[in-house]
Amino acid sequence: MRKLKVLLLCGGRSAEHQVSLVSAATIVRALSPAKFQIETVYIDSNGRWSAAGRELLENRGKVNGKAPPRTAARSLSPLAATSLGAKGFKPDVVFPVLHGPLGEDGSVQGLLESAGVPYVGAGVLGSALGMDKDVAKRLVRAAGLPVLPYVVARPGFPIPGDVGALGFPLFVKPAGLGSSVGVSKVERKADLEKALREAFRFDTKALVEKAVEAREIECAVLGDPWARPGDPLELKASGLGEVVAHARFYTYEAKYLDPEGAERFIPAPLPSAKTASIREMAVRAFRSLEGYGMGRVDFLLDKRTGKSYFNEVNTLPGFTASSMYPALWKAAGVPTPRLVELLIDLAIRRAERRRRLRVKP
Ligand SMILES: Nc1ncnc2c1ncn2[C@@H]1O[C@H](COP(=O)(O)OP(=O)(O)O)[C@@H](O)[C@H]1O
Ligand SMILES: [Mg+2]
Repeated sequence: MRKLKVLLLCGGRSAEHQVSLVSAATIVRALSPAKFQIETVYIDSNGRWSAAGRELLENRGKVNGKAPPRTAARSLSPLAATSLGAKGFKPDVVFPVLHGPLGEDGSVQGLLESAGVPYVGAGVLGSALGMDKDVAKRLVRAAGLPVLPYVVARPGFPIPGDVGALGFPLFVKPAGLGSSVGVSKVERKADLEKALREAFRFDTKALVEKAVEAREIECAVLGDPWARPGDPLELKASGLGEVVAHARFYTYEAKYLDPEGAERFIPAPLPSAKTASIREMAVRAFRSLEGYGMGRVDFLLDKRTGKSYFNEVNTLPGFTASSMYPALWKAAGVPTPRLVELLIDLAIRRAERRRRLRVKP
């Protein structure tokens, strides 16, 4: 049997560069060498693409470890790398293991569409929608799901007056990042400017959002939204996981650097009716955001009122050892090697579906 050629993209010009390297390592380990031929392209922090050697994948391990070694290999043009692959390896499918801007936001997906290569995860539109916390919330709200009240702020413009109506504390976050980079909790008006300045270091749009004392509940979604019932690639929601951060909130440090920074519980201890309703909301949010393949849908459950709010979707969720997405599927009976195979099958199915579309009037 011919092995399927899988090209992994990792690193990336994003504040989540390090996380991507750890995720890529997990995925490489999960891809069976009996079934797949694997190549890796590393995108450095300056956006330069190069063929990544094994050393990179073996060393990338620690999030707070050293920078991955600069591969001496020649730089690649992104289009050449994705259509021809590194070392003349023409991929059957690309797995963009990139988190955050330029990887998870549709940019790389657009490149892969142009190159005509099947790729894992959401398409251009789904990736872009998932990356923008403001646009995502507007669509999810239009689909009937609750979201916390927020206002949008832009650099160089006065803080919108309606921030006053939200009350304190507030959360300030860049619209298009992840991993809590640039996110601050603001207790009083005097600290709002500083928080916005921090968010604007990472994006030109920020959300100022009402804060709630919240439980953090996450749901993994996997599959083809247009599959018929009974299809093995049918869209499914996993059980729920809960993250309990031992910090002021679930910060970057708590996520990746501090092993005691957060605890994860699977399943989330919730009454079964609540679990069912959040799982159903996760699928609805995924569909309304043009999701495809995979997505981790995160909710904030207000401890005081018990009400749950859609918070965000991650179309390329973390795949580190402590990451919720693979852990939720493992708990649902889908081990990571099976999970990555399903994701690859989904990528190929979408590409075939698109290939059948007419390109002439
Ligand atoms: N409105 C909010 N109320 C309470 N906590 C929040 C709120 N918004 C964000 N947080 C906290 O900040 C963390 C990061 O914010 P989030 O919106 O999930 O962005 P990111 O994409 O960086 O994960 C959340 O996991 C949560 O701990
Ligand atoms: Mg989050």
